[in-house]
Amino acid sequence: MSLRRAKITAVGTFVPQRIVTNDELSLMLDTSDEWISARTGIRERHIAGKEAASDLGAVAARRALEAAGVGAGKVDLIIVASLSPDALFPSTASYISAAIGAGGAPVFDLSAACTGFIYALSVGAAYIASEQAERVLIIGADVASKMVDWTDRRTAVLFGDGAGAVLLEPAGEGEEGIIGFSLGNDPAGVDQLSIPAGGSRLPATEATVAEHMHFIQMNGREVYKFASRIIVSSARQVLQEHGRRVEDVDLFVPHQANIRIIDSAARRLGFPPEKVFSNLERYGNTSCASIPLCLDEAATVGRLKRGDLVLMVGFGGGLSWGSCLARW
Ligand code: UT7
Repeated sequence: MSLRRAKITAVGTFVPQRIVTNDELSLMLDTSDEWISARTGIRERHIAGKEAASDLGAVAARRALEAAGVGAGKVDLIIVASLSPDALFPSTASYISAAIGAGGAPVFDLSAACTGFIYALSVGAAYIASEQAERVLIIGADVASKMVDWTDRRTAVLFGDGAGAVLLEPAGEGEEGIIGFSLGNDPAGVDQLSIPAGGSRLPATEATVAEHMHFIQMNGREVYKFASRIIVSSARQVLQEHGRRVEDVDLFVPHQANIRIIDSAARRLGFPPEKVFSNLERYGNTSCASIPLCLDEAATVGRLKRGDLVLMVGFGGGLSWGSCLARW
């Protein structure tokens, strides 16, 4: 007997209102719209005020539940993926559960940097497959703007804030739903992208603050090379494992970090531009929210239709990666 499949039945997203353009960043950093646009494809991003990750995630979650017509009390499990959690503990999922009135459902955070949303989808799908849950809320919520060093032009220009939530429910009779995943992590890259201090290895001290160790640190070139390679191999692996070809895919939704990474991966995989989704230009890298933000927008503008085959690929700190193949 085969395990039951999960299906994404609703999406909800939220971004803070304030938009910061490249020109505005150029007023505070030694950078330019020309450099940022040409090297990354980003033109503007939404930046939170006082809101924490859970504030954004709670709105996205409510929107997803509204779209599904499911009350928060009916959710069996909430998983939040974030690299900018409200606190070390309790989980951001606990704060979202309180905000949306989810009752007594189990909730937890999943830490897999920008790959978190895909990892969380895989866990949610496994709960549905093993019949431990009927309705799982998966939320990617990040306010990386609180985690970047605003004096470091190498990272500050890259990120934006946002949240995206999806509801997972069992696929109906004859529906494919989520078809499969390909996940991985390269421990050799563990130091390439991180927030080094603030955890138990380097607890906060005056020195860690003075040395800017509570902010995102990234070896951009190494992560770039890793991302360009891994998107292609991970996408190929999930397609091959499930007997699909690139031509079968209706929409390719990669993590939105750099348009050059997206374009080169799409080219090497053989996707024509009309099958590649990107909104990086308007949101920057929203970390765990980037893929659900794309899914929501693609569905809204009619580029992702019921029955379409969608291929999502995430990557990030770890260095981690994950692909998910799903029938929309
Ligand atoms: O979701 C997390 C995953 N993260 C990523 O996928 C990021 C992957 N990496 C990248 O996207 C790119 O490596 C960056 C966009 C971060 C950097 O682009 P790059 O083409 O690799 O530039 P670079 O780091 O090689 O730097 C080239 C030059 C340097 O100057 P010098 O040393 O050649 O004089 C940098 O100091 O560009 C300089 N630079 C900037 N100049 C203006 C770096 N950042 C900026 C900036 N404005 N914001």
